[in-house]
Amino acid sequence: MIGLFDSGVGGLSVWKELVKIMPDERYIYVSDNGYCPYGPKPKADILDRAKKITEFLIDKGADIIVVACNTATAAAIETLRKTYSLPFVGMEPAVKPAALNSSTGVIGVLATQGTFKGELYLRTLHKFASNTKVIEQIGTGLVELVENGNTDSEEAKELLEKYLRPMLEEGADHLVLGCTHYPFLTDTIRKITGDSVAIVNPAPAIASRTHELLRELNIQSKSPDGANLFYTTGGNIRLMEKMVGEIIRNENPEMVVGNEFHTINI
Ligand code: DGL
Repeated sequence: MIGLFDSGVGGLSVWKELVKIMPDERYIYVSDNGYCPYGPKPKADILDRAKKITEFLIDKGADIIVVACNTATAAAIETLRKTYSLPFVGMEPAVKPAALNSSTGVIGVLATQGTFKGELYLRTLHKFASNTKVIEQIGTGLVELVENGNTDSEEAKELLEKYLRPMLEEGADHLVLGCTHYPFLTDTIRKITGDSVAIVNPAPAIASRTHELLRELNIQSKSPDGANLFYTTGGNIRLMEKMVGEIIRNENPEMVVGNEFHTINI
């Protein structure tokens, strides 16, 4: 089973890409909605949540864990890899493809406070974007809009306009989505940026990496049966059901396996 977790429903943007290329795998997803958002929280608190969720996922039979959250990857992935013996895949800030493909030499990055403070992000900037102008913007309030299903609201439009307009004025031609919640805002983002800005979502690359790793480790599913399991530590179970249903309808309508939804207290 492939375990995944995020502070909320954002990690479903990664699950969507996993299901697209690996429909026969079984998935177990934890939405840590009771502790959402992670972005402004101290690193130690996020690490504590990441460990608790990892132990829950291992207990439920996960063979590999995808940390479907940039903030939790920044705060916890190194410790998780040292502490537990199963393989982990983390989110990569997609600064590299954006910087390499930019014609204007200006890119925008939208992410949480925790992600911008992370070592991984700083290393990636140093390595791939030293000749690129990188405009960073913390997406305060965006996670909550996605968690409440308000991705197309006036508030979402106003907030995104405030965050993206300065990037456009500086000439950014790539926008990196550095938080797994943000792909659910793509339609609203597009209305502001138009088609001339490339929106870079790292989720497809993370899904391919997971696929590759399953093959290398020879732990691909041999008998696709059982249900996908979705857990939340908070109250957004209906929204999660709705989003999972939409992803299946759009990506994989033939999917025969059932989905179970539960609230947990961990
Ligand atoms: N989905 C998250 C990320 O990728 C977490 C955002 C948050 O909880 O602040 O960073």
